Amino acid sequence: MTETVRVELGVRAYDVIVGPALLEEAGRHIGPLLARPRVAVITDETVAALHLQAFQAALRREGIESEALALPAGEGSKSWPHLSRAVEWLLERRVERADVVVALGGGVIGDLAGFAAAILRRGVRYVQVPSTLLAQVDSSVGGKTGINSPHGKNLVGAFHQPSLVLADIGLLDTLPRRDLLAGYGEVAKYGLLGDAGFFDALERDGARLADGDAAVRSWAVARSVSAKARIVERDETESGDRALLNLGHTFAHALEAATGYCDRLLHGEAVAIGCVLAFEASARLGLCSQEDPVRVAAHFRQMGCRAGLVDIPGDLPDPNRLMELMAQDKKVIAGRMRYVLARGIGRAFVATDVDPDIVRSVLSDGLAAKTR
Ligand code: GLY
Repeated sequence: MTETVRVELGVRAYDVIVGPALLEEAGRHIGPLLARPRVAVITDETVAALHLQAFQAALRREGIESEALALPAGEGSKSWPHLSRAVEWLLERRVERADVVVALGGGVIGDLAGFAAAILRRGVRYVQVPSTLLAQVDSSVGGKTGINSPHGKNLVGAFHQPSLVLADIGLLDTLPRRDLLAGYGEVAKYGLLGDAGFFDALERDGARLADGDAAVRSWAVARSVSAKARIVERDETESGDRALLNLGHTFAHALEAATGYCDRLLHGEAVAIGCVLAFEASARLGLCSQEDPVRVAAHFRQMGCRAGLVDIPGDLPDPNRLMELMAQDKKVIAGRMRYVLARGIGRAFVATDVDPDIVRSVLSDGLAAKTR
């Protein structure tokens, strides 16, 4: 059931290994990368309690020593103070240029540890061991690392590719169902943006993924990673096609900003809602059929995911304010909004010059449904 996806980036190429029980085999996979048998592990307190002992034991079985820093769990750790703490800790441990840092955790830890590795001694290698579905299918692959600033999310960072990604499907068993379903928003996104056959298959098998079927989970993670790898290979630093990975994200970022980046709306939940809104806008622009947004929303609802503004608890700002928040997105170039829209399921593209009235009407109808 183990599958290896190669991310072909010349001298920065690496493998993403997907499958069960990879944590137990971590030493065997990481060992060949090491100049000396020791690694520094950055994790969070929740993941440390669940998986750190097993991970360090697996390293020890291959003669690899390790020390670990466990940061508080949650988005707050993607900040200057925790970055500084991580970098100073790595320097205190005398991590050298030829050493390897391990990120054991979800997207926050992967982004933070990856960025710490990018700037430590002008760059050391790192290995991602993602523990959430979202991190396995998205953030651990492709080399985007960084932290948040008081000015916004992910505004400070670097492209720094990992040397290896170990996506252990077994780690998803300890994930709360809400987090798993949030990560599913990013899985379905790959089908919606470029692979209609994958979306068809998810409509058929998605429930088994949610219910813990390891074979379906492995297959879905590997197929998602492979889709991402092919896009990153074409456009490593997002000057073109990589923007397709942001399907649903312009809406999502505005909704996350409006709800305060907290438990009220998780990132993956916002992405699922954003994908539905992007298809709705595409349908109203005459780009895809009216049935497509209905089908996308129906699938997310069937999975138990959030699929519309109506699913976000509490009040939301009016459409104009949401549009202002959308305009703060990183995808704005020279003041022009860029949207990822679709000509059908699996046929996304980047659009500029989208009629703002259409986007406003999509938001306005979504908000009206909340009051009905
Ligand atoms: N998460 C989107 C990207 O890696 O480009």
